[in-house]
Amino acid sequence: MEFCDLKKQYSFLKGKIDSRLEKVFEHGQFINGPEVKELEQKMAEYVGVKEAIGVSSGTDALLASLMASDIKQGDFVITTPFTFIASAETIAFLGAQPLFVDIDDKTYNLSVEKLKDFLENPFNPVNGEKILQEKIKGIIAVDLFGQAADYDEINKLAKKFNLFVIEDCAQAFGAEYNGKKACALGDISITSFFPAKPLGGYGDSGMIFTDNKEIANKIRKIRNHGQEKKYEHEIIGLNLRLDTIQAAVLLAKLEEFIKNEIEERIKLAELYNTNLRNLEEENKIILPHVRKFNKSVYAQYTIQAEKRDELKIFLEKKEIPTAIHYPIPLHLQKAFSYLKYKEGKFPVSEKTSTRIISLPLDAYKTEDEIGFVCESIKEFYKSNISIEE
Ligand SMILES: Cc1ncc(COP(=O)(O)O)c(C=O)c1O
Repeated sequence: MEFCDLKKQYSFLKGKIDSRLEKVFEHGQFINGPEVKELEQKMAEYVGVKEAIGVSSGTDALLASLMASDIKQGDFVITTPFTFIASAETIAFLGAQPLFVDIDDKTYNLSVEKLKDFLENPFNPVNGEKILQEKIKGIIAVDLFGQAADYDEINKLAKKFNLFVIEDCAQAFGAEYNGKKACALGDISITSFFPAKPLGGYGDSGMIFTDNKEIANKIRKIRNHGQEKKYEHEIIGLNLRLDTIQAAVLLAKLEEFIKNEIEERIKLAELYNTNLRNLEEENKIILPHVRKFNKSVYAQYTIQAEKRDELKIFLEKKEIPTAIHYPIPLHLQKAFSYLKYKEGKFPVSEKTSTRIISLPLDAYKTEDEIGFVCESIKEFYKSNISIEE
């Protein structure tokens, strides 16, 4: 069994993908080909925003969004320590300082209560001093494992404290929040089409979404060396463009993703829930908690498990691959040691990182495969005495 079976998906979509790719090979516009604009239009329409700008990865989407928001040395941006490093490294890359706020213990997304507490009394972990309110410029909220963070509350706080909100929707393209599509919930929203994401390309690529035309135009310049007209560079930019080939692959996959794959992922995640519910009642595991107003796209089907590391090895022996998202919270990563956060600072993130485990999931898994994973987990707990005992 594969953790995320891209070969199986290709066998289903081969005709569409090959014919899209052939067209690109024939017209030869590998940079800024017509597929890029077509994808941007289709994605803006699907998400329900005015502007979509294709870029070279989710990381580059965050970088371009922060650049367009004029983030620079001396600024502070808040994010979660329980995420992929891109959410915070892009802040640091621009010379600004990431400020971490702990997560909600059920959804693993930014805790609104802790965010409010922090904004009312912000301090710098590096020197323990209070931070001037106006130095905090924005929040990068992350939609972890496929479920949107609580944007009604986050946006309210952002408005009160005069902050921008970037929605890091790298894991939640296709999800919904209060009837709105994910990727439409921040001032700027970004996603990633890393191959294993719910909608993935065949290489790196990403997309930025916004209703703000001015910001969109700035991002379009940033992704193309700061130019609108060739060789007239108005601002500092980079090469952050989306490849035509990636756009073609994504166009070939998009229709099936919207029509079937999202619902398939949800159906299989619910099958996991049904099969594993007993183990939750026995306090061996904790199932994913999706809020009433959310529709998760289950970028990962992630549970908390007692004896997580032993369970992982047990499953490996049965050739069931699993993944740990994420084993070390960002405030304890060596790269961020200069921020001087101590162990114990973000207890929810820290505890979660020792218990979390993601199980195999993609839209093409069979019910038998999910059943086999569940039976194997049950077998593990039947033959194991829990830590507390
Ligand atoms: C939450 C989050 N943000 C950002 C990224 C970065 O995306 P990419 O790998 O396309 O650069 C990822 C990708 O794994 C992610 O999960």
